Amino acid sequence: MALSLEVSGLKHSINLHNGTRLALIDALDLHLEAGEHIAIVGASGCGKSTLLSLLAGLTPYQSGQVYYRCDDQTLNPAEVLVHSGFVFQQFHLLPELNAVENVALPLQLRGNRDAQQQAIDWLTRMGLAQRLTDNITQLSGGEQQRVAIARALCAHPKILFADEPTGNLDEKTAEQVMDLMLSGARKSGAALVLVTHDMALARRMDKAYRLSHGRLSLCH
Ligand SMILES: Nc1ncnc2c1ncn2[C@@H]1O[C@H](COP(=O)(O)OP(=O)(O)OP(=O)(O)O)[C@@H](O)[C@H]1O
Ligand SMILES: [Mg+2]
Repeated sequence: MALSLEVSGLKHSINLHNGTRLALIDALDLHLEAGEHIAIVGASGCGKSTLLSLLAGLTPYQSGQVYYRCDDQTLNPAEVLVHSGFVFQQFHLLPELNAVENVALPLQLRGNRDAQQQAIDWLTRMGLAQRLTDNITQLSGGEQQRVAIARALCAHPKILFADEPTGNLDEKTAEQVMDLMLSGARKSGAALVLVTHDMALARRMDKAYRLSHGRLSLCH
């Protein structure tokens, strides 16, 4: 199964406290091929996280069109969610669950009986074999980030949205985690939309776009 994404004329604005309206996303177009890996860069506050949330269907957009296609069929938002993975900038892990439980949960919701073992395998790959049953709140920012990445990857999504997924990691760990993310995505033929401030990382993607004034322009 291969998932592609077509976005045209996407608009999204927010109301600021001073009563003005700020157009964060403004007539934005994007085509993402199945299995294509792209980076989105741009200044802090320009709307990258908002855009990712709109593309993934987590925030309802105000106008324009976002179509997901799978083998010439258009998917509805619920089908898209089943096939997508999301690494949130603020992680959004469940604080009352431990690391394994956080990663296993999406698999269990899909009826996977091997969820626990697969969660352990992914956390081990992320270098967290010693922290499996630690409460999330006892983990460092970078450790929590790796749990969030394991959670997104373990369900083998067909499209992965990752919002600054290595922002809390040291250089060496960031490289190892990115290698795991890229090889995982390539193995399952998944598309990747990666938000990053790291231009060297952006250059490793098939394409890199800059978000500015609500639109994307190609950097490479
Ligand atoms: N729900 C909301 N209500 C009000 N303002 C919002 C909301 N969501 C985002 N914003 C504002 O929209 C702007 C863009 O936010 P967003 O998080 O998308 O930026 P970003 O490009 O991801 O920034 P960063 O690189 O710092 O993560 C910011 O000024 C933010 O304060
Ligand atoms: Mg952001």
